[in-house]
Amino acid sequence: MSTGSVIAIDFLIAVLAAAGWLGSGAAAAARRRPVALGLAAFAVLATVARAVTVTLLARAGWWFAAEKLLIAAPLSLTAVVVAGWRLLRARGDIRSAAVALLFAGYADSSALLVTVLHGYPVSAGAGLLAVAGVVAATAVSWRLLGPRPSRAVSRTTLAVAVVALVAGTGLAAAPSAAPGVSHRHGQQAAPSVGEPTKRYVLTAATATVTVSGQRVAAWAFDGQVPGPELSATVGDVLEVTLRNKDITRGVTLHWHGYDVPNSQDGVPGITQDAVLPGQEFVYRFRADQAGTYWYHTHSVSDVGVRMGLYGVLVVRPAPPSGVDRVIAAHTLSSVSLPEPVQETVPEGSPVRLRLINTDSATHRYALAGTPFQVAAIDGMDLAGATPLTDTAISIPAGGRYDLVFTAPATPIALSVDNRVVYSTGAASTSSTSWPVLDPLGYGTAAAPPWTHYDKDFTLVLDRGLDLHGLLPRYAHTVNGAADPDIPPQIVHLGDTVKFTIVNRSLVVHPWHLHGHHVLVLSRNGKAATGSPLWLDSFDVRPGEVWEVTFKADNPGMWANHCHNLAHAEQGMLLHLMYA
Ligand code: C2O
Ligand code: CU
Repeated sequence: MSTGSVIAIDFLIAVLAAAGWLGSGAAAAARRRPVALGLAAFAVLATVARAVTVTLLARAGWWFAAEKLLIAAPLSLTAVVVAGWRLLRARGDIRSAAVALLFAGYADSSALLVTVLHGYPVSAGAGLLAVAGVVAATAVSWRLLGPRPSRAVSRTTLAVAVVALVAGTGLAAAPSAAPGVSHRHGQQAAPSVGEPTKRYVLTAATATVTVSGQRVAAWAFDGQVPGPELSATVGDVLEVTLRNKDITRGVTLHWHGYDVPNSQDGVPGITQDAVLPGQEFVYRFRADQAGTYWYHTHSVSDVGVRMGLYGVLVVRPAPPSGVDRVIAAHTLSSVSLPEPVQETVPEGSPVRLRLINTDSATHRYALAGTPFQVAAIDGMDLAGATPLTDTAISIPAGGRYDLVFTAPATPIALSVDNRVVYSTGAASTSSTSWPVLDPLGYGTAAAPPWTHYDKDFTLVLDRGLDLHGLLPRYAHTVNGAADPDIPPQIVHLGDTVKFTIVNRSLVVHPWHLHGHHVLVLSRNGKAATGSPLWLDSFDVRPGEVWEVTFKADNPGMWANHCHNLAHAEQGMLLHLMYA
């Protein structure tokens, strides 16, 4: 069973245990003896079952079980002892056990709240707040249901609740020792005059575009979604002038996966100001990385990209020979792009299909009718790519796979989520049952370029309550904090850096670091065995632990975030900063 499913099952059992105790308490208060006993027995069983799930989680990593072992376990055990003891003594009137049973319910519920609202890392503040909640709720139940407690008992209860509440709040609200994020500008790109320059002008504007026969409102570059395809040959200088006609929330161009100098990275508030209506910004950088990339606005990026402010960037080592097509999957106002293309390809022609996922969710691609190789992922060539047949490809948000093959005599068809988007004739194959390629085991391995890490960062991805600003929000968090409160990761030029990325949440997080490709070391403790994988976008699924490394060789301040752009908007974004 995957750690992701254990996380989900553990959560479900925890809810059942809490509900069991609360129900039992309510039944006891209503003097419904059999119901109360039945629910209490059920709650005890659920608590026992949790011993199994929490042990499994602890085995998968401390970050998955920390608050469960430190807060939930003691609270649940106290609950069983207190409620069990009262039940055994409540021979006559079951109502006398009601408060103890409710106490057990409050204890389990507050432990559950710690997991849902606070998560990892556990803190003494969260523990104390949980205890304060339990004591307060029990005291109220006691007043309503129990025998009149003596004054001394009431006072002690009140004192415990108040002390725990005050201490807990104090600890929870204490400022963390995070250094402030300072704005700085990276080195200017300095392509010298006289180099071959490819020039483009992109104008962002609101537009109505026709996709698959439907007219939809969009934000578009040059009136089209996706925007114009930009291409260059290695060695060119790319000069792209961005103009904003009427996108009031501003526009920038971020070169997704292209490790440009920091000043050209297009992150508003960090590397430049957003380009407002009537303004323009000129991006200039050397196209020294061949491969499949894409560009998109980074200003209100969730809405902006969804509305259509994105396009393709392809840098080729030489002018293309054979068939070279880009297929960018996107969802525009619930219409799936691209529109299907069919063309005739002479048998024997070399074909390269550049698959891109510009959505915020993972897509499944399948190429039927021919063996193929995955030549590159995220713009980086793979070593020792072997032919694949009847194998599907899963591309994370932002990711790219280049598939190559020699055109067969019979038609081929490429589908995205079972919808054919590119074909060379009527091919009919069902690919739904195909296994999905695991890139960590594909191609030929090579020794890692370094085995010592100067910096080692852990990023635990989760959800939690975030009290930044006036409105509390249920944020997507990294190490318990949400943007802009996540401390930046500080590195020095030349450092070898390791990230351990852990997903304790119930949803997938496609991770994306700007300005650098990272080399995958391992997933869930198992070393990658295939071709060295240098990625800029990778799915960290629920319960997964990824270890990746990179060399800090591109100075500046870089966004490091989840590429489910709604998650990034809701807090899952931090910065990598060169000291
Ligand atoms: Cu493609 Cu910061 O994003
Ligand atoms: Cu995410």
